[in-house]
Amino acid sequence: MRSFWSIAACVFFFAVSFVCVASAEEAQSLFEKKCSACHGIDRPKSKAKTPAEWRSTVLRMKSNGAAINDDQVRIIVEYLAKNYPKK
Ligand code: HEC
Repeated sequence: MRSFWSIAACVFFFAVSFVCVASAEEAQSLFEKKCSACHGIDRPKSKAKTPAEWRSTVLRMKSNGAAINDDQVRIIVEYLAKNYPKK
């Protein structure tokens, strides 16, 4: 019974870490795909903004015509705020 629980715990933590890695990669590819349609990907990559500034930038891109839904806005804002924060 003990070994059952340690295996169960392993499977659980493996699944959790896998989901975390997958979603980080997903966020990056979503960002690279959606944000290089009109200008180069270097345009956002060369910036550093607070989460609120990234949010208003991404929402402005949406009104510029970026094909992103509300979930994708949230994922991209999170990704940018984490990787390109204001110093
Ligand atoms: C439909 C075309 C289009 C798409 C798709 C697009 N952009 Fe833009 N982007 C623009 C235009 C037009 C400008 C210049 C005018 C402006 O700043 O609104 C711009 C300017 C920018 C700038 C420089 C201005 C600033 O505020 O720093 C950044 C950063 C930026 N975009 C980030 C992004 C990100 C992040 C995405 C993905 C969510 C994205 N863009 C997708 C059209 C687009």
